[in-house]
Amino acid sequence: MSNKLDLSKYNKLIKEIEKHNKLYYEKSSPKISDRDYDNLKKKLIKLEKNEFIKKSSSPSNTVGYKPSKNFAKHNHRVPMLSLSNAFDYDDLLNFEKKILNYINDKIKLEYSVEPKIDGISASLNYKKGKLVAGVSRGDGKVGELITENLKTIKDIPIEIKNKNFPQDIEIRGEVFIKRSDFQNIKDKFANPRNAASGSLRQKDPNETKKIPLKFIAYTFGFIEKNQFRLQSEFLNELKIWGFSTSKHNQVLKSLGELKEYHDKFEKERFDLEYDLDGLVYKINDLKLQQRLGFTSNSPRWAIAHKFSADNAYSQILNIDIQVGRTGALTPVAKIKPINIGGVIVSNATLHNEDEILRKDIRKGDTVKIERAGDVIPHVIEVDLKKRKKNSTRFQFPIKCPSCGSKTFKEYNLITKKYDAVRRCSNEGFECEKIAIEKIKHFISKEALNIDGLGKKVVERFWELNFIRFPQDIFKLDYNKISKLDGWGNQSTSNLKYSIEQSKNVSLEKFIFSLGIRHIGIENAKLIADYSINIKNFLDIISEKKINQFINIDGIGEAQINSMKHFFKNKNNFNIVYRLSNILNIKSRELNKKGKLNNQSFMFTGKLIDISRAEAKNLTEQNLGNIVSTISKKLDYLVIGEKPTQKKVELAKKTGVKILTQQEWNNLLD
Ligand code: IVH
Repeated sequence: MSNKLDLSKYNKLIKEIEKHNKLYYEKSSPKISDRDYDNLKKKLIKLEKNEFIKKSSSPSNTVGYKPSKNFAKHNHRVPMLSLSNAFDYDDLLNFEKKILNYINDKIKLEYSVEPKIDGISASLNYKKGKLVAGVSRGDGKVGELITENLKTIKDIPIEIKNKNFPQDIEIRGEVFIKRSDFQNIKDKFANPRNAASGSLRQKDPNETKKIPLKFIAYTFGFIEKNQFRLQSEFLNELKIWGFSTSKHNQVLKSLGELKEYHDKFEKERFDLEYDLDGLVYKINDLKLQQRLGFTSNSPRWAIAHKFSADNAYSQILNIDIQVGRTGALTPVAKIKPINIGGVIVSNATLHNEDEILRKDIRKGDTVKIERAGDVIPHVIEVDLKKRKKNSTRFQFPIKCPSCGSKTFKEYNLITKKYDAVRRCSNEGFECEKIAIEKIKHFISKEALNIDGLGKKVVERFWELNFIRFPQDIFKLDYNKISKLDGWGNQSTSNLKYSIEQSKNVSLEKFIFSLGIRHIGIENAKLIADYSINIKNFLDIISEKKINQFINIDGIGEAQINSMKHFFKNKNNFNIVYRLSNILNIKSRELNKKGKLNNQSFMFTGKLIDISRAEAKNLTEQNLGNIVSTISKKLDYLVIGEKPTQKKVELAKKTGVKILTQQEWNNLLD
């Protein structure tokens, strides 16, 4: 370990992973995606390698999570290990190469191929044919004794009378919930795996019984007098003994065959009755498995070939047209729900009219969907081979599906092209969908920022006829609200308080809150600076002097035309007037004598007695600008404790003046 900083970084990372382990394994309610979790673990392993440190308790050493206190602990006679992962063909080549090197032979390998069901594993101990203990995986060495809960699952035999059934055996397999059953409880859990885990580990077995869990058997742990030669033979015998096994189990003989089978599944898994996260390949010969043995965490004789964590195939059930705040018509594919990296995706954007027509995306098509990071899931391509013969081209609507108004595509004079997006020509609140989206924008964080009035609440209040225009928010009947399902006196009074608070709003936020196309927060600031106060702003828009705004550096034709179009609509115009009477809109005038007028600032390092956010606010209140990159345009870099050295060096090189916190204070007087 090279220094203290790295050690604290290491400990922090371990703490974070442990927190997510607890959420995932104990609470069955993860707060991050599988992909983000994998990235945290990768980061940890990298740090351990680079810094030559590894605590024996590091999560990189452990499998799963320690057993919950709700159940008695139970030692596994044979540890329940995890599988190493393969993501592509190279990983498979490597897997096979390692095996052949290990046994120092060039034999033809045969694989038992099994779907990797995304559930949670359990081990069932039968003695003299009777189920005597059912245990969860826990941390791989010690599990939780959940026999009674497991007994509620119909697929698990309580007694087995076959003559050849071993006197003492642990049958292992996966507990899961079918995708169709998950649909009924999807509001309570993030995905079927969490649903299975949550329900199986209920304190009260009667609670477990309420959710239809399934069990598929796939291996043994401890076994007395093993009479089997092949894994596939054992899988067949499991069926005879009365266990459910997967109908997709196969014996395959080459990596090429494995890849082909994997590709097929990758394209068809959305139609299976349960969630898979890959396929498991096991050396079929049990003797050879024994020779190969285990590394610290996983067997050498098996590997999980995972499905991609950021894309998947599914089928388009329907194509909906959504209408946005600015009237944009966005086609959205309703797809058969599919688990992409732990998140169930059932909608994918098709972007706009041009995109859907260019890619010729149709209802019923099988499509590849990408879901990476925070980007909205979207359709990447159509699998034309799967297209049905009778499918027809998608007809993009010419009228707005919400209000029936004409739609149009804007012509761009500079590019001499029509916009890819089709829009509803209604600019006001006459189009229901646009109106709802406008109200959502009005209350959003960067606009009026009304806590407790989220998007879902707006939709509900709309349905209940409580609101039709932004100004209706200020005359809500709180008595009625407190009687609604899910609302009480406390939440109602919190809402009332936030609404009252939101009445104090700056001119720029007010202009932004109107939701005029092309007027984002930056342009709203420019217009507020120019207008100085609400009175001037109202004068300009009512006397049709909007052209004046062209004098503002940064405001162009597109913004001017958009504002003209917006205020031509009577409703929009009235709303601004009504709101101006209800709200206390702060003028920019007061700030005109800002001490940092027109100078730009950037902060780095920890400041004394003041947070970075507060310092930025103070700078802006005094009419200084905050910028996020170092360039010739930056006037001052203010440095606190432990500043980022790279920024300081770059500032020096670029000729940016460097200020201490005290010097910045002096400027503010
Ligand atoms: S064999 C020593 N076979 O995958 C290996 N596991 O990462 C023991 N799983 O904990 C596991 N389907 O929850 C095996 N056909 C299958 C499987 C399977 C799903 C899960 C199981 C295990 C995890 C390993």
